[in-house]
Amino acid sequence: MLGGAFLTKGKMYDTLNKFNALKDKENVTVLGIESSCDETAASVVRNGREVLSSVISSQINIHRLFGGVVPEVASRNHTLAVNNVIDEALEKAGLSLGDIDAIAVTYGAGLVGALLVGVTSAKALSYATGIPLIKVNHIEGHISANYVAFPDLKPPFLSLVASGGHTCLIDVKDYNDFTLLGSTRDDAIGEAFDKTARLLGLPYPGGPEIDRLAKIGKNNIQFLSKKQVREDFSLSYSGLKTAVVNYIHNARQRGEEIVIEDVCASLTHTAVDILVDTTLKVAKGVGRDKIVLAGGVASNSYLRESLLSRGKEEGYEVLFPPPVLCTDNAVMIASRAYFSIKEGKDLADLTLNAQPSLRVGVKK
Ligand code: KG4
Ligand code: ZN
Repeated sequence: MLGGAFLTKGKMYDTLNKFNALKDKENVTVLGIESSCDETAASVVRNGREVLSSVISSQINIHRLFGGVVPEVASRNHTLAVNNVIDEALEKAGLSLGDIDAIAVTYGAGLVGALLVGVTSAKALSYATGIPLIKVNHIEGHISANYVAFPDLKPPFLSLVASGGHTCLIDVKDYNDFTLLGSTRDDAIGEAFDKTARLLGLPYPGGPEIDRLAKIGKNNIQFLSKKQVREDFSLSYSGLKTAVVNYIHNARQRGEEIVIEDVCASLTHTAVDILVDTTLKVAKGVGRDKIVLAGGVASNSYLRESLLSRGKEEGYEVLFPPPVLCTDNAVMIASRAYFSIKEGKDLADLTLNAQPSLRVGVKK
């Protein structure tokens, strides 16, 4: 029930009517809010593809001191930043709340305390203004970044989502129709990069550092044997992480020199080759001709190059957004919400809660 016990019936129907009217409205302007990990972000996006503003307040420098994201510290800093970030997004768009048709917020997956800051702020704004509140799945948001980057992009396509928390292959049949085809059984690829980087003494987040060093290193260390690479549609990165850990420990014990650049290049090639092999296998199996990359690791240079060239060889069109739309942002959240709104889906009320383990495309 919309609003639960908190709203009067009149206010409830008013919001519902507003939401229903958006289906046929020519221009729909959405305020997006994202706070699932260590970026507090807000945006204003029109019709799912036109960015009017995007503000990202990153906590990377704070978490770098600890070598990784500290959840409690993340929540506190989101609380400090969220109102200013929203105000700035509206100001940059040259709009006020009265011009906003819907408020979209990430409600999962992510860190529970971090998510709650965005969800609570969005609920408060929606309650105070009567603007419909739309709940957004973070992973679906990552995929939607491609609709912003490629104005003519339409489903169906296969999406490879590679981030710090997720590595999965999703068949996007339509704007609101997702089917999970394969995913990592354990760690995400970004997690493998971040944890290995920490071991190598590189700053957080490790992914971009590993990317930079891999370019000057040699792919000359074999971390996994052919036997260890999975042949099905699922992926596994914890084995690779352990192999790198063992390599470093053994080399240190033997007093051998560790060439960090070579470790980075070999790790990157191994992790990415597995991902590209699996992606191409799944694309063939599902019969899609377009492969769309998404998530923070989609910024990785070797992943982009490799998927593009190998995909092309096999006849696929391969797309990926610019790096600023790959890592966490609120443009992708506002974009995702637009496509829900047009199908009358994902309206939320004041009972909306954070869902830290929210998945995507898993049919019940
Ligand atoms: O999508 P994202 O910003 O947050 C999550 O939803 O997890 O992804 C963050 C992840 C981190 O693991 C980070 O190290 C990785 O993306 N990353 C990269 C690169 N840029 C960010 N990994 C490899 N190469 C990069 N250039
Ligand atoms: Zn993300």
